[in-house]
Order: sequence, then structure tokens, then C-alpha cells
Amino acid sequence: MKIAVVGRGNVGGGLADLWEQASHEVIKIGRVGGDVSDAEAVIVAVPGNTIAAALGNVRGIEGKTVIDTTNLVGTDPPEGFSSNAEFVKSRTNGPTAKSFNTNFAALYDRIGEARSTPSNLWCGDEEARQVVEQLNRDAGFEPVYAGPLENAALQETFLKLVFAVNRGGLGRFFYRMAPPDQL
Ligand SMILES: NC(=O)c1ccc[n+]([C@@H]2O[C@H](COP(=O)([O-])OP(=O)(O)OC[C@H]3O[C@@H](n4cnc5c(N)ncnc54)[C@H](OP(=O)(O)O)[C@@H]3O)[C@@H](O)[C@H]2O)c1
Repeated sequence: MKIAVVGRGNVGGGLADLWEQASHEVIKIGRVGGDVSDAEAVIVAVPGNTIAAALGNVRGIEGKTVIDTTNLVGTDPPEGFSSNAEFVKSRTNGPTAKSFNTNFAALYDRIGEARSTPSNLWCGDEEARQVVEQLNRDAGFEPVYAGPLENAALQETFLKLVFAVNRGGLGRFFYRMAPPDQL
């Protein structure tokens, strides 16, 4: 599959490496933007508060299948939207999903060490299912469906629960590897 990652940092760059290992072709786009016309799937992996600016710099994204990985750390979605993922759909009008926002990028290179395949939540449009589930599996995750795109706000909030569990003690190792200020 031809994939474009918008944001080539921990998440975008890390997933790009995993997908290239699975024989996908990945175009990596940074903050200056670029063209995603050729891509069959677009992954948005920029800081949550830069989503509007980031999409504004990307050409050819209209109608594309987009997976939004962003989290809202100390910020809200753009005005008038309950989640970043719904904002993305309003700009692209294509199949849209939220995924990869509840697993730490710092552990991407250790997925193979897990005792069982790690789960990864996704919610979003049925039309995005095949792409989202394939890209989850090709990155080493077992996709877990969490309902329609209207649930994206819940999935974005879920991160706060992950932080709470880490701070509560369970998963301290996890927490040490990826403190919240790096997410
Ligand atoms: N890190 C994690 O474990 C993790 C896990 C789940 C979800 N998330 C979420 O995933 C997203 C990306 O996190 P990350 O850790 O990969 O971030 P990161 O390593 O800081 O990478 C951010 C990327 O976004 C680009 N960018 C920065 N400011 C921008 C702007 N104003 N407009 C357009 N693009 C901009 C950067 O472009 P340049 O390459 O040009 O600098 C860079 O490629 C965040 O929303 C984060 O909350 C992170």
C-alpha cells in the first residue's frame, strides 16, 4: 500500500519504519507539508494543537482514507468539534478513523517481545475498516474496534486513563519509558 505519514516523529516515523518492514511504500511529510495525492492511506501524526495548520499544508488529501493518531495533551480540539478526528473528516470528507493514539511509540521496536499481540483501539468509519485493520496488523497490533467516529472524543480522552494507570503504579515500566510530556 502507498502510505503518507503527515508528521514523521515518534509516531509517524516509527510507524513508517514498521510499515516499510512490512513492504509498504511510505512518504514522510513534515511541518512544511507536501502532496499526498498518490497515497492510498494518510496517517496524521502531528502535535494535537497543530492539526489545522498541518492539514492546511497538505495537498491532495480530499477524499482519502485518513487515520488520525493525535492526542490532545493540554489542548482542546478545534472549535466546534468534539475530537480532532472529526475535525480531520470535516476537512477531507473521506473515510476517517482514530487509531494508534493509545499505544506508546517508545515501545514500537519491542512489539515482538510481547507475550501476546498487543491490542490497539480504533474507531471510525466502516469504509476505513480494511485499511485501518491491515495497517494495525502490519505494525504488529491486533485492532480492536471501538465504534463509529463519534467515539473519537472518548478515545482521545482514554489517554488520560492510561496516564492515571501508569501514575497509579501499574505499568511503571511503561511510564518510565514514555513520560506524558513526551506524548
Ligand atoms: N509519542 C507517543 O508515544 C504517542 C503515542 C500516541 C499518540 N501520540 C500523538 O501523536 C502525535 C505525534 O506525536 P509524536 O510523539 O510523533 O510527535 P513528534 O515526534 O514531536 O513529531 C511531530 C511531527 O509533527 C510535525 N509538526 C510539528 N509541528 C507542526 C506544525 N505546526 N504543523 C505541521 N506539522 C508539525 C513535525 O514536523 P518536522 O518533522 O518538520 O519537525 C514532526 O514530524 C501527537 O498528537 C501525540 O500526542 C504520541
